[in-house]
Parts: sequence; C-alpha cells; structure tokens
Amino acid sequence: MEQLKQRAAKKAVESVTDGDVVGLGSGSTAAFAIRELAERAIEIKGVPTSFQARKIAIDEGISVVDLDQVEAIDIAIDGADQVGDNNIIVKGGGAAHTREKIVDSAAERLEIIVDESKMVSTPDYPVPVEVLPSARSVVYERIRQLGGTPSLRIADEKSGPVITDNGNMILDCAFGEIQQPRKLAKKLSALPGVLEHGLFIEMADQIIIGTENGVETRAP
Ligand code: A5P
Repeated sequence: MEQLKQRAAKKAVESVTDGDVVGLGSGSTAAFAIRELAERAIEIKGVPTSFQARKIAIDEGISVVDLDQVEAIDIAIDGADQVGDNNIIVKGGGAAHTREKIVDSAAERLEIIVDESKMVSTPDYPVPVEVLPSARSVVYERIRQLGGTPSLRIADEKSGPVITDNGNMILDCAFGEIQQPRKLAKKLSALPGVLEHGLFIEMADQIIIGTENGVETRAP
C-alpha cells in the first residue's frame, strides 16, 4: 500500500515547476508528495495544511509560508479517505480537513493522490465534522436529526477526544452510502458550531491513483 501511495505522489509532483507555490496536503500519502517535492531540484514555497505537513516540509528543507503571505497557490497536492464518482471526495481522517479545504480551494489546481483502495462508486466513509468544543452536543443531536450516526473521535495516545490543529473536536458522522452529497454538504455547513465538514465536492482537477500496475489518472 505504501508503494502505491508513493507512486501516486511521485506522479503528482511531476506537474510542479520551479517557483510554484504549492499547497501541502496532510496524511501519509501527502507526506510522500512533500518528500518527493524535496527530492526535486526546484525552488518552491509550500503552504502547509496542518502541523504534520509543516513539520515534514521543514524537516525536508522546503520553505514554508502562511496562506496570507502568498497571492496565489499554483497547485495543491492532497490525499483523501475516499474518492467516489462525480468528483465526490471524503477527507478529514487525519482531522485536517478544515485547513485542507481552505488551501485546496485557493489553489489554481488540485491534485488528489490516493492508492486504489480509496476508490469507490458511492462514498460511505463517515464524514468528519470539525466542531467547536462548546457546540459538540448540539451538533451531535442535529446530525442525528439529519439521519447520521455521529461519534466523537477519541485520541489513541491521550485520554479523551482528538483536538484538531485549530483547537476543536471531530465528530465522525456515518450516513451509510451518501446518495445526495451536495444536499448533505449544504446541511452540514449550515449547522451553527460546525467549522467545516470533510465532503469535498467537485474540487479536484485530477485524481491520481496508485495501483498494483502503475498509476492511473482521472480528470473529473
Ligand atoms: C487529513 O485530514 C485527511 O484529509 C487526509 O488527506 C486523508 O485522511 C488521507 O490520509 P492518508 O493518505 O494517510 O490515507
């Protein structure tokens, strides 16, 4: 699986050119892309989407800047938790989707990199929803009313909930197969206390899939 992720990352990085401002995605697949970028003998500036992406970039010698220090982002390279038909993507398994969505949407071009296990027809991955801690119980109820099954994401190596880079919490919201993603995205965005949800709809310009046999690309 790691090799498949790396294949996709390598391919995505080919479209980065000297002087580009690059949105740096989060997660294990995006981490491969950051390392591949460092391998290329080009000068770029990276706009990280998380503490993790920033740390890897700095360790690899890539100069990092904040979003408000650049006029534009030429390309963003980011991973995903599931990629469905019609450019419906679920992100946020690493709790970084709020900043990812900001940076990815600001980019001229968004390349999503995944291994083939992430490809589905209709996504059913529980949608990560970042909530203000004080709004947690209210949002929880609202999501139940929308037909979802929310669950507060609990940390692995800490007692209690996962706290995002923005100081908030995550509700992982299972909706089964998401048949009406646009409708659901609108409803989730409208809930007071919700910072951002992990449905990325028609945002990607290209999906790059690492497979057992090589790399496939899909232009939505
Ligand atoms: C981070 O919050 C996510 O959106 C990641 O992009 C996603 O979880 C993919 O991570 P992996 O590449 O580690 O599967």
